[in-house]
Amino acid sequence: MSKVSSPIPVAILGATGSVGQRFISLLNNHPWFKVAALAASDRSVGQRYADAVRWVLDVPMPESAKNMAIVPASTDAALAKVVFSALHTEIANELEPAFARAGAAVCSNASSYRRGEDVPLLLPEINAEHIQLVKQQRVSKGWSGCIVTNPNCTSTGLTIALKALDNEFGVKKVFATSLQALSGAGYPGVSSLDIMDNIIPNVANGGEEEKVEWEPRKMLGKFAGDKIELADMVFSIHANRVAVIDGHTVCASVQLERPVEPAVAIQALRDYAAPPSARELPSAPRPVIEVREEADRPQPRLDRMAGKGMTTVVGRVRRDPIFDLKFVVLSHNTIRGAAGASIYNAELLVQEGLV
Ligand SMILES: NC(=O)c1ccc[n+]([C@@H]2O[C@H](COP(=O)([O-])OP(=O)(O)OC[C@H]3O[C@@H](n4cnc5c(N)ncnc54)[C@H](OP(=O)(O)O)[C@@H]3O)[C@@H](O)[C@H]2O)c1
Repeated sequence: MSKVSSPIPVAILGATGSVGQRFISLLNNHPWFKVAALAASDRSVGQRYADAVRWVLDVPMPESAKNMAIVPASTDAALAKVVFSALHTEIANELEPAFARAGAAVCSNASSYRRGEDVPLLLPEINAEHIQLVKQQRVSKGWSGCIVTNPNCTSTGLTIALKALDNEFGVKKVFATSLQALSGAGYPGVSSLDIMDNIIPNVANGGEEEKVEWEPRKMLGKFAGDKIELADMVFSIHANRVAVIDGHTVCASVQLERPVEPAVAIQALRDYAAPPSARELPSAPRPVIEVREEADRPQPRLDRMAGKGMTTVVGRVRRDPIFDLKFVVLSHNTIRGAAGASIYNAELLVQEGLV
């Protein structure tokens, strides 16, 4: 692991939102990064962070953030070498390239550039080598900075579990249903009258399903020097919003090239290890995958904080009468699926000498 001699200044764009709050919390006392700027919309600019934010996390707001003044999300304020973006897509579309042009490494949660041919869509524990695309991006865009993205929070846990299975048995088809937490819709998100006593079988006006049907193919694809060859797999996803605060659950059935007994698949999931370059980073999940054997796990309330919210929890691995295997995956959507993901990506950039 590379040594970081003095803390690297970082900025958070969208610092008051659902993901922004996670950034503040996870970056408090981070061994490599120091928060230098907090940016949000005109509504918040000029206010103390503590006055502008409606803090919804169940951990205290860090003292260091409380008195920071919120600044506009403008590159004038960009002294930061790393910029964490928790902006909505339409704002990220414009702002993220501006920061990359100004020399910052932008680690983004937004979907704006995930499909870019020269933009890494990263989960370091499964595709750390894709980070090398940044070199191609810098040449093609003429930027000294870069944009690196993390996937949609529902793609995250599912893709990590699929990677362990794909390595050993080859994944051909995936049919999955998500049960997605409310914090995934940002704050204030879905109205209580819509979600109490209810399930909404539609997330992001259908856009969520399309993302989860495509993003894993890029992340499980092969790095071919200057682009990613998409994995040859077919996905069918049903996305649902449920009355859970944090933690996305996905129930998946998979068809394999080499069908195996559930016990063998469980061993492969347990044995899965991150590539060496991603194993020792400060935010690396330990373990990458935890397999629960109880008949009623994983559950969001009990399992979402496994590995400080970075571990993917799998359970109910069993035979599927239509495909080959079925199982349940749980991943913390604002930690592994959002802020923790961008921080892990930034750590990999630093380690690879790309910041
Ligand atoms: N929530 C999740 O689980 C999750 C997971 C993965 C990815 N994501 C993605 O992460 C991004 C943020 O999601 P979220 O759930 O955190 O949203 P959110 O709670 O609605 O927060 C949005 C943030 O953006 C700020 N903002 C709005 N307009 C702005 C502008 N013009 N300039 C600068 N800042 C502006 C807001 O500031 P004010 O408070 O001042 O309005 C707020 O800080 C989205 O792209 C989302 O799709 C979310």
